[in-house]
Amino acid sequence: MYIPTIPVPGEFAGRRALVTGGSRGVGAAVAQRLISGGATVVTSARTRADETPKDAEFISADIRTADGARQLVDAAVAALGGLDILVNNAGAARAHFGEIPDVEWEDSLAINFLSAVRVTNAALPALQQADRAAIVNVSSGVAADPPAPMLHYGSAKAALASWSKGLATQLAPAGVRVNTVTLGMVETPGGTELLQSVAQAMGGSAQQAYSAVPLGRGGDPRDAAEAIAFLASDRAQWIAGADLHTNGGA
Ligand SMILES: NC(=O)c1ccc[n+]([C@@H]2O[C@H](COP(=O)([O-])OP(=O)(O)OC[C@H]3O[C@@H](n4cnc5c(N)ncnc54)[C@H](OP(=O)(O)O)[C@@H]3O)[C@@H](O)[C@H]2O)c1
Repeated sequence: MYIPTIPVPGEFAGRRALVTGGSRGVGAAVAQRLISGGATVVTSARTRADETPKDAEFISADIRTADGARQLVDAAVAALGGLDILVNNAGAARAHFGEIPDVEWEDSLAINFLSAVRVTNAALPALQQADRAAIVNVSSGVAADPPAPMLHYGSAKAALASWSKGLATQLAPAGVRVNTVTLGMVETPGGTELLQSVAQAMGGSAQQAYSAVPLGRGGDPRDAAEAIAFLASDRAQWIAGADLHTNGGA
């Protein structure tokens, strides 16, 4: 069972953050966590959801294209008056049984990898003007060992983690810290539905997979948010190029 933690009061005071995919699941928990610490937050997705944090401004955007990514960043930077923290969390894991068609490969790369590259490139001028900027990219444990139906997703997330590492070295001298959080199985509606379909094809279930996690349960979105918030915070001021595997020991 998840034990609620207490955010460090004011740790994000004065910080301006953009969380992509912040409408629900992990992204909504990250936005809420940053807001609890005093940050001003913009969340984005294509569609607002019931769980989209009310205390964040929401900007609707499809970031699979360069135009969509640029428009989102322009609107977010205008709304926030600058940018200190970027969380590239938007992603879409889909399982495809059988040969994965070209269009699925392209879509997976667009949302799970290129969206982060494009949003980051558009955000760099604002981040480089900020004092102590931080970028956190959200990858998946599937990147290291993708099951066949998730090969396109795992490959895109592997590219994301590789890019994140290289970018960290490139941007550190400019005072922008870049890190990755690689998530294991987090119990979001989307995550559980996907896990169920893949586990079922292998004769198991999502619940069995969660129970097999060494720490005894699937992740709560707030477990993921805690790791992401840590790397975005000044507590991680000497950490760049790290990949924090957050997976209950899986
Ligand atoms: N849950 C897990 O077990 C797990 C494990 C490893 C890694 N991850 C990663 O963690 C991140 C969050 O996962 P989650 O489970 O919270 O996923 P989720 O509940 O499906 O949320 C995904 C978010 O991304 C947004 N998004 C999807 N396609 C988009 C597009 N084309 N343009 C803009 N936004 C888009 C979604 O909103 P719209 O659909 O309305 O656009 C939503 O806000 C993802 O990067 C995922 O790959 C999750």
